[in-house]
Formats: sequence, C-alpha cells, structure tokens
Amino acid sequence: MPIAVRNVLFKLIGAFILLGVWAKHRLMGYKKPNTVSSDDRAARIDYVHDVVQSWLRFLPADVSVRDRAVLELGPGSSLATGALLLAHGAKSYTAVDAFRLAADDTAEFRRDAIAQFNGELQDAHVEIAHTALEGESSNFCYHVDAGFDIPALCNGQKFDLILSCASFEHFDAIETTINGLTKVAQSGCISLHIVDLQTHTNAIRQRDPNNIYRFSAWFYSLLTFPGQPNRKRPIDYVRAFKQNGWVDIEVIAAKSIPGDQLGKLTSGLADPFNAPEMDMHMLDAVIISRYP
Ligand SMILES: C[S@@+](CC[C@H](N)C(=O)[O-])C[C@H]1O[C@@H](n2cnc3c(N)ncnc32)[C@H](O)[C@@H]1O
Repeated sequence: MPIAVRNVLFKLIGAFILLGVWAKHRLMGYKKPNTVSSDDRAARIDYVHDVVQSWLRFLPADVSVRDRAVLELGPGSSLATGALLLAHGAKSYTAVDAFRLAADDTAEFRRDAIAQFNGELQDAHVEIAHTALEGESSNFCYHVDAGFDIPALCNGQKFDLILSCASFEHFDAIETTINGLTKVAQSGCISLHIVDLQTHTNAIRQRDPNNIYRFSAWFYSLLTFPGQPNRKRPIDYVRAFKQNGWVDIEVIAAKSIPGDQLGKLTSGLADPFNAPEMDMHMLDAVIISRYP
C-alpha cells in the first residue's frame, strides 16, 4: 500500500480510537493505569519487578538506591515498587499522584513482590521494608491530590532520587511538574524517568506507534481526557530540566523504530512532529539528569 494512503487510513482509524477512548474516560473516569490484568497477580508482580529493574539498570554507574530518599511520581495501581526499593536499601520511599489508583494495593501484595524478587537482597533491608509495610510509616508514604502540586504533596521533604515509569507522558504540564520536582530535589539528586512516547491504545500501538502525532493540536485537544498522553517529546524534557538548573541531562532511546520501518512510521505526522528535532524514531525514552 502506498505510504500516503496508509497514513490517511491510520489517521482515520486513530481518530475513531481517540474518540472512543475520550468517551470511555468521560464516562468511567481514569481507573486503570496499565495493560496488566488486575486479576493476574503473577503478571502484576512481574510488572513491578520489571519497573524497578529498569530504573536500576538505567541509573548512572556510580549511583545506587542505597541510603537514598526516593520519590516516585505517578506510581499507578501499586506501591510495590516502593517496597522493592526499600528492600534494595533505599532510606525512604514517597509516592505522589493526582489519582488514588493504588487505593486497593495491599501490604500482602507488596510483601509477595519482595519475596518473589529473584535477585540478591540484604536481610536487614528486607526487614526494614517489611516493617515499613505494616502501616504508613515515615519511610513509606503515599500522597495524592488532584492538583498534583509536588512541593505541597511532599510537605517539606527533600529527595536524593526522583523516579517515574510511564507516568510523565500523562502529566498535564511537564514544565510545571519539573519545576515542582526541582523544589524537592536535594543537591546531588538524580532524576530518572522512563517515558512511553507511543500511542497507548493497544489496538494500533504495534502497527502505528506514532499515531497520536498524526493529529493537529486543535483536534487532539478537542478530545482531551484525564491521563491523555501529552505528546511531549524528549527535546521538551531536556529544555524544562535545563531551565530548572539540572545538569548532565541525558536522553536514552530505550526503544526505537527499526530502520526499515522509519519511512512509513514517521511520515504523515502533524506539525510540529514532522521536524527532525522531534526524534520521532524514539518510542521509549529514559530522561536522566542531576541537580547540582
Ligand atoms: C500509566 S500510569 C503509570 C503508573 C505506573 N508507574 C506504572 O508503570 O504502571 C500513569 C500514572 O500517572 C498518573 N497521572 C495520570 N495523569 C496525571 C496527571 N494529569 N497529573 C498527575 N498524575 C497523573 C496516574 O495516576 C498514574 O499513576
């Protein structure tokens, strides 16, 4: 099929999907943060293991979680990531969110996530994690407010490590969020965010990962819904971190479009996503920076 015809076809399919997702969110609200079935306990545990292992893998070689006060932005439906970080030796874990998606998360699930971790953990750290899971203690906190005012949510606490996974692309204004997280960053803080830049709808995610970028700003904002991907690109994150004084900013392409598919999957995109600096080959990005 000629690329121009394919582009029009996928734009039409994407518009119908966008309309459907918009209607679903308007009717049902924002409830389910990822595609893992809430009934599949093993898959949920695998998922949180994978998130934590990804963070640890991408951390600069001279940085570990040990003795760090960690802040997670947008933990979604489980705080087991925090339990695992404590079990890896973090000093404390605080999660902040605009939606209380982890309301049904249980200490039992978090304990299982630690127990089923297939790597080395120190007994003393695991014990600290278990103690923290008994109840909301000062080293394990979850704060939610629809306004997502990070300094207010953190209530004077400062952090050595600020992490997120598949969350930043949902924040309404990344510039405000980055300004907010800067205010709670300790000197030397490392900020590491795994950002899913692709179309989120499973039905077309594989075949047309840049589908959300086919629409004009006008059309896309017409169908705004809570949690809608904000279409910010790596260049936007770099600019915002720089403006807030962060240094050593690094963007890692964790997943890219294969070379033989670049032509069809990066063509027919709306302005400004048709410019080279938008790095439309990048599907998952890891944005790392350090606060001096
Ligand atoms: C796709 S979920 C990812 C959750 C989790 N990190 C994971 O990997 O499953 C997106 C997260 O961003 C949060 N979020 C969505 N829209 C937001 C917004 N406008 N402001 C702040 N947080 C938001 C959600 O509550 C959720 O925790």
